[in-house]
Parts: sequence; C-alpha cells; structure tokens
Amino acid sequence: MASSETRRLSVTLVDVAPGHESEFHALSTQFEALLVRKNYGRAETIPDEAEPLRFYTVRHWNDVDAAERAHRDQEVQELTARLYRIARVTHVVNGAQRANHARVMLDDRRARIEADRRAGFDRRQRNIGSPTGTERRSGRDRRLGPRRLRDRPGEIDLVAAARRAREHADAAYSHFKVGAALETGDGTVVAGCNIENATYGLTICAERVAMFKALSEGHRIFTRIAIVADTQAPTPPCGACRQILWEFGGNLEILLANMSTTTGRHHLKDLLPLPFDARLL
Ligand code: THU
Repeated sequence: MASSETRRLSVTLVDVAPGHESEFHALSTQFEALLVRKNYGRAETIPDEAEPLRFYTVRHWNDVDAAERAHRDQEVQELTARLYRIARVTHVVNGAQRANHARVMLDDRRARIEADRRAGFDRRQRNIGSPTGTERRSGRDRRLGPRRLRDRPGEIDLVAAARRAREHADAAYSHFKVGAALETGDGTVVAGCNIENATYGLTICAERVAMFKALSEGHRIFTRIAIVADTQAPTPPCGACRQILWEFGGNLEILLANMSTTTGRHHLKDLLPLPFDARLL
C-alpha cells in the first residue's frame, strides 16, 4: 500500500453537456473499473448538489508513477477523449504530476480554456470582486476570456487555432503553408506550423512541431489535432507524422480543414492501420 506521502489525488470538475448524462455515467463506471483493474488507484464521481449536470471526479492514484502510467495508458486516453467530447473538464487539483512540476502553459492564449483558473495552492483565498465603473472593460476592449471560448462543453475551436498557427509557417520552398493545433488531455492547445530550410530535407511538418512542442512542455495526454492548409482537398498528415502522432498521441481524433471549412474527420488508427510501436519491441 502506498504511503500518504506518495499517494496522489486529482480532482476535476465536469460539466456534462445536456443529453449526455447517461453516456457520462457509463464512462465514469468504465473509468472507475479500469483504475482498479490496472492497479492505478480508484476513482469516484460525486454529483454537485446544486447543479444537475455538474460532477466532481476524484481520483486517488496509488502513487505518482501509477498516475503517470495511467496517463500514458491507451484505454485511459480513449475514455478521456470520449469524456472531452461530452463535457467541459476543469482540473481543480492535479496530483498526477510530480511535485513542483513547472507548468508551462501555453501557446495560444485565445484558445486556452482554463489557464486563468487558479488551482491547488495557487487558488485565491478571498473574493477580490470584479472591476466597476471605468475599470470595467467594454465593447472592443472586452477581455475574450478563455472560458468563453468553451461555452459549449467539450468544444475548443481547434481549427481556428490551427489556422492562426498556419500564419507562422515558413514555407519558402514549397509555398505550402500548414498549421496544426494539438489538444492535450487538460484542454491546453499547442500549435505548430511547418518550417522548411535550405537543405529541404530537414523540413519539419506542422504536426510534428506541435507534438514536439507539447512533449517538451510536459504534456503526455492528447485528444485531438486539427490540421489546416489552404487547399480544396484535405491535407492529411504525412507518414512520418502519423507515426509520431501515434506513438505519442495514440488514437487521436484528426480534424482536417482549409481556410473556410472542415474537410475531414478521422481517427488515427484508420490512417495508420497495423502500426509499429513500442509494444512490438
Ligand atoms: N506538410 C505539413 O506540414 N503537414 C502535412 O500534413 C503535409 C505536409 C508540409 C511539409 C512541407 O513543408 C510542405 O508541407 C510541403 O510538403
């Protein structure tokens, strides 16, 4: 049994989209069983007494390694990805990370959803009120609060983030600019664009830039990636990117889009059947 020193607790606040309650309960039951079966810890789901569609999920990890293993687990990731599709998830206490883990959030201020939410010891202890009179921002100067972007539970405008990232592409040789936006398990959006260079061969695609940036910032759970190019036909990830996305992101949902519409929606397992990965080593 892990000592209280090594045990870790994660608490998330889950706002379920109307009509998805039974799916949420089914997911919670599966998740709770999975944590026990694989000896990661245990989980419980507590309904909020005042808000019918609000729940608190409490995860008691056996220890920090169990928490980290769980986050890398394909089954856990799939259940988490399904949850994100039907609910807005806010991390209140994140005990799954090692203590003092520096959280370098973000990249795309406009797309992030919860970085303004103070959690754990950083939480405000008292109500500091809201600005009044001339302090209050209005009209065009209004703050576009991150949370507002996720007004619809489970929805981040990932495609918009990929379109903005595309503006930074350095495609001096091919003139084919690509943007990508990767959504992590905690709702962070990490963007990337393709970067070419004079040797041509050292070019790196938008998807891998996004993934490597995310990994280097400590993210290990991923749910979706949006890929945008200015073409009529969809631009699916190249073979090298499929491999990297699979190894680090698992069966991601892939949204393909151009400058005005979404042109495709896939799951990575369909784009990379019979993958090679660490399980085969
Ligand atoms: N490219 C990407 O960034 N992502 C893709 O999914 C396809 C291709 C880039 C690589 C290169 O800079 C340019 O597009 C043309 O191949």
